[in-house]
This record gives sequence, C-alpha cells and structure tokens, in this order.
Amino acid sequence: MQDTVFFVHMTDTHINIPGKNPLFKIDASQKLRDVFTELEKLERKPDFVVISGDLTQDGNVEDYSYLRLLLEEEMSKLGVPLYLALGNHDSRPYFREGYLEEEPTEESYYYSVMESGLRLIVLNTQVPGLNEGHLDEEQLEWLRETLSTPAPKGSIIVLHHPVVPTPTALMDSHLLCNPQDLADAIAGSDVIGLLSGHIHVNNIGLFEGIPSAAATGVAFGIEPTAAHSMKFIDNSGYNLVLVKDGRMIVHPMAMPGEQRLVFEWKMEMEQAHS
Ligand SMILES: [Fe+2]
Ligand SMILES: [Fe+2]
Repeated sequence: MQDTVFFVHMTDTHINIPGKNPLFKIDASQKLRDVFTELEKLERKPDFVVISGDLTQDGNVEDYSYLRLLLEEEMSKLGVPLYLALGNHDSRPYFREGYLEEEPTEESYYYSVMESGLRLIVLNTQVPGLNEGHLDEEQLEWLRETLSTPAPKGSIIVLHHPVVPTPTALMDSHLLCNPQDLADAIAGSDVIGLLSGHIHVNNIGLFEGIPSAAATGVAFGIEPTAAHSMKFIDNSGYNLVLVKDGRMIVHPMAMPGEQRLVFEWKMEMEQAHS
C-alpha cells in the first residue's frame, strides 16, 4: 500500500445527450473529455476519480445512458474506479435507470468505499425540486454509524452542496441548509476533509476546523464576486487531491478556457417567475 492516496475530484459535468439543450452553447461532453486528456498525462496515475454531482443538466434517462457510455470510454483508459454523487440537476430514479441500469427508485444514493486505507464517503444532499441541499436524519444516522469505526487513513466526505460560506449572499443561499447536523455527525470522527461542487468556483475554507474545498465546474464556472447576479463563465477545471500524513491537500487545476461570459442570471428573473 502506498503511503499516500491520490485521486481526482471533478464536479458539475452537466452532460446532456448531444444536440439536446446545449447549455450556453457549451459542449459539456467535450469539456469532460478534455479533462480526461489532461489526466492521462499525469505522471502519477490517480487511485480513483470522484464526480460530486450535477452529472447531467436535465437528469433524463437518455442523458444518464449517454453519460455512462462517455465515462466508460474515458475511464477505461485510466483503468481506476469511478465514484459518483448526485446534485440538484440530477434525478435519483432516472440515474438508477439510465446510469446504473437498476430499478428506478427515489431512494437516496449514498455509500462509502475504502480506497488504499482512505474511506470515501459519498452523501446525497440533493433533494428533488430544491436548489439547496439537505441531509435527512436517516442519512445522518448512517453517517454516524459509518464513522464510529476509524479508517486507517481517515475519511473524506463528498457532497454536492458546499458547507463553507461563499463570497456572496446569493451563493450562500445555495449551500447545504443544515450544516450543523453534519457538523454534529462528524464531530470527533476521523474526517480529514470535505469535497463539493454546485457553486462552480473554487471555494476553500474550514468547516468545524476541517478543510473543505468546492471545485469549479467541468462544464462551466461562475464569477465569485458578482453580488446580485450569477455570471456563468466559459471555463473549466478539476481538483487533484492528495492524502498525506493524515491531511487532505487539494490542488485546483484550471483548464484553458475563453473566460467569456456566457449567461447572466439576475435575481429579477426569479422574482418574475415566482
Ligand atoms: Fe452545477
Ligand atoms: Fe448544483
């Protein structure tokens, strides 16, 4: 067993089947393939890849079937395990049907795996019909039980909705809405870090003294200082994560991009629709 664990954290791939609802005229599939092209150049092969939600844009069965084929093709070149979390753009039943090829159910999708002594805990903060995230009591109970036995190299939690405050009140309204419940569940445990997405910008801080990193989206980014709107930017990136000496170390990696504004969502738009 290597002393260190090294893996890739991607998020917000927002994939649809080609030709359908092209998001801001961005080719999200190509962006995902471009990230894999970069990963193949790494001198050290990652131990695994995790994608923290908003896997698809529309969350339909055909989108997940297409995503499965795309990821199978790319992951076969890396030859390591892939772990997925769900985000607010995802659908539990359609993910099960289209991606996992299982019976479609509304059951929460959460689990833990052990990779080279590191425990990866993937939570389901996505709640049907909501933008913000929530952890229900059943999942919190499972989390407390899972964490009751320490892992050799500690645990990292992956969840779509971030828990660290952002630069703006607008983005803050999109975080996990019951962070204290999560804080209580992981208090005194072996959790060494949290990884998330959703806000499409690198946002790194401490959560109850534990490092927590949200990554920019693979499909697009968001300008972090716009206080009264969301400015969607044509950029892309992912995180390389190293676990060394009981610490989580995160390297945000930027992909070349045009950095152009592709869409601006203003608060008045939401008020006009409500
Ligand atoms: Fe997203
Ligand atoms: Fe999201």
